[in-house]
Amino acid sequence: MLSAKENRHIGCVGPDTPMGRAMRRYWLPFLLSSELPADGDPMAVDLLGEQLVAWRDEAGRPGLYAEGCLHRGASMLLARAEGDGLRCIYHGWKFAVDGAVLATPNVADPAFKDRIRGRIWPVREAGGLLWAYLGPRDLEPALPRWPWMDMPSSHVLVTRHLEECNYIQVIEGLVDSSHLGLLHMNGMRQASSTDLGFAQKINSMQGNLAPRLEADDTDFGFYYAAIRELGDASATRTEARVAAFVAPCLVLNPNGDIATFVVPLGDTRTAFIHVFWSDTQALGEEPLRSRHLEFIGLSPRVLEAFGLTEATIGRNDYPHPANNFHQDREAMRRGESWSGLPGLIEEDVAACVSAGPLRDRSGEVLSASDVGVTRLYRALKACADAAAQGAVLPALSPAIDWQSVVGTHGVIDGRSWRDLLPAKPSGAGARKEHA
Ligand code: FES
Ligand SMILES: [Fe+2]
Repeated sequence: MLSAKENRHIGCVGPDTPMGRAMRRYWLPFLLSSELPADGDPMAVDLLGEQLVAWRDEAGRPGLYAEGCLHRGASMLLARAEGDGLRCIYHGWKFAVDGAVLATPNVADPAFKDRIRGRIWPVREAGGLLWAYLGPRDLEPALPRWPWMDMPSSHVLVTRHLEECNYIQVIEGLVDSSHLGLLHMNGMRQASSTDLGFAQKINSMQGNLAPRLEADDTDFGFYYAAIRELGDASATRTEARVAAFVAPCLVLNPNGDIATFVVPLGDTRTAFIHVFWSDTQALGEEPLRSRHLEFIGLSPRVLEAFGLTEATIGRNDYPHPANNFHQDREAMRRGESWSGLPGLIEEDVAACVSAGPLRDRSGEVLSASDVGVTRLYRALKACADAAAQGAVLPALSPAIDWQSVVGTHGVIDGRSWRDLLPAKPSGAGARKEHA
């Protein structure tokens, strides 16, 4: 439970808010690389409550501009794409993606342009994603190097969709193992009869709806473990699914091959970026790519139909809180569907978004199933507080070895779930918490 003030403290992300200042200390993914063609049209990007413009020059270099032109603020969304820079249509000032001013045709002094810099933000490209840093230039951290960034693109699959609610609601669902066997009951049943690797890894969760939950603080955030006794009386086993929350908005899924970034575009709109990878399968190529996306519910067809794209988000002629997300009550009555919603992603979206744009936590009743959720509140508060106090923020210590931070799962039978990790959880104040 959080007071309204505590809720805003970690939920609001504008430039002058505690969490906004913390979020601006991290590299955040803002588009898929494939969404930004070379010398295409400038593209509107919202990030942390700011309006920005993404554009890639003819040499393939990505850039992120403040929307207002440096001169007198005309929108760079209207700018001409001219190969080596974006040229504002008002007076023709032209800006390269690195901030160099290439032309100021309405100023006679040819040296004027060399004395000014365009309003741009640092951008990196890695792992099929474009990353932005919106913080103070002297505090820019290194971009974490995750193992999937070094895999061939044929074995990595990235997707992005939008959700019309605050980012914390989306992350809560990712550190809440206990909803999987209920909300996603239909998907779990289908998982039993498919050969997709993703499906097989989640299949066992329907065998125990009330896992035991534990969490450890770390220097990047926390590990969260859901422990289930599975099987029948003759053959029981204990399985642990361990997720990593990496500040400020990444969860490494226990499947071990999924990273989910939950990026606040503003206080009540969120981009949800999935990265899937496989050592053995060409997930990024057809036909596997489409099969995988269809099963999870992340295909372009599904995202469009459920109102999760730029063109459809927030429209109440698409599935939306105002029309109960087109829930199929008949299918529920017939016993064909637990949720009345078509798939895993739609179920998660409806559960998160229906709680409200920035859900009120002052009256919530948390239970033993919410260890990950309370840990999340605490980790986010640690980010906001550290930024305010000038301390090192979670996940910003240069000593962190990103190769050893993982989501994972396995049979533990009498061992600790911590034995599944490549390195022991570390971090000042690492604590154990039992549900
Ligand atoms: S406002 Fe952009 S060049 Fe003048
Ligand atoms: Fe879910």
